[in-house]
Amino acid sequence: MKGLILSGGKGTRLRPITYTGAKQLVPVANKPVLFYAIEDLVEAGITDVGIVIGDTGDQIRAAVGDGSQFGARVTYIPQEAPLGLAHGVKISQDFLGEEPFVLFLGDNFIRDGIVPLVEEFRTSGANCQLLLYRVPNPEAFGVADVRGNRILKVVEKPQIPPSDLAIIGIYMFDHHVFEAIREIKPSARGELEITDTIQVLIDWGLTVVPKIITGWWIDTGKHADMLEANRLILETQEPATHGMVDGKSQIYGRVVIQKGAEIRNSVIRGPAIIGEETQVIDSYIGPFTSIYHHCLIEGSEIEHSIILENSRVVDVPHRIEESLIGRNVEISRSPIKPRAYKFMLGDYSKVGIL
Ligand code: DAU
Repeated sequence: MKGLILSGGKGTRLRPITYTGAKQLVPVANKPVLFYAIEDLVEAGITDVGIVIGDTGDQIRAAVGDGSQFGARVTYIPQEAPLGLAHGVKISQDFLGEEPFVLFLGDNFIRDGIVPLVEEFRTSGANCQLLLYRVPNPEAFGVADVRGNRILKVVEKPQIPPSDLAIIGIYMFDHHVFEAIREIKPSARGELEITDTIQVLIDWGLTVVPKIITGWWIDTGKHADMLEANRLILETQEPATHGMVDGKSQIYGRVVIQKGAEIRNSVIRGPAIIGEETQVIDSYIGPFTSIYHHCLIEGSEIEHSIILENSRVVDVPHRIEESLIGRNVEISRSPIKPRAYKFMLGDYSKVGIL
């Protein structure tokens, strides 16, 4: 079997973070979301992996390389514009050939990996296997109407959902999917939808089987989902210290301190991760916090947040919580009079002040 990861698209819901970076490279527990997808495929024995890339393709290539760091062989497939998930599959036909494959959306996260799910599909003889997950807001996803072991209908983001079963962005197909894509037209949002493609497979009477999963699944497209994924991954990490912790600091619980990090006169209460070469000085880092590489946190308190590389948080008088802070950001006290808030915020930034 082969793997196809879709890592193009626009990432509008994570703006402004995604103005300058691919949403699939935003780190969760200090590892890009996309890397978890590649690792899941490799773990399931799928090492021949295609990655569909768009405008942020150069960043994705730089981060993933030829895939050897994961034990995979990666082929990049440029998509001229985000014309839909089914369009991503269509342009990958030469790469995929006749082999069955796993289609993995590069911003999807599944707790328990895909090993038994791939095995089941391999042996079932089904033409397509969908993974489903019960959600409180099915209207935000593709939704499946299921009777027993059959899927009657699938619809994309319906106003009145036929069930609470969201379609997870990890699909298994055989070669019939290419014929089905030829049958569909762009949807109201102008995309060739994978959901419409699956409906064609169902209408043709091919075997489309549902698999309801119970371990958590997260589509990390939004700020709150990103923090939730971060929380869930951090909860499972094993504590480790590869950096320096001075005698005046205290570390509690599941805390990972990466290479070259320095913790001075600070308290870190896990689960948390402190990135390479990051300095934490006279500060408190609370549960569910990931601070990425080359940051400085000084005289500040941060909890339940993700901070990306090269950012500085210095002498902030109130605790920072539930925040997603991008790269090269500086938050500090303003030394110059008059005493006032002084912002330089990009488009779509959000600030909550006390
Ligand atoms: O996350 C699960 C959901 O993913 C499903 O329930 C929906 O049925 C499915 O349509 C999809 O919905 P989204 O609206 O969340 O898809 P999004 O546009 O966010 O794209 C998902 C990933 O695919 C993302 O990493 C970007 C990439 N992509 C997207 C498009 C439209 C591409 O590489 N090329 C594209 O043309």
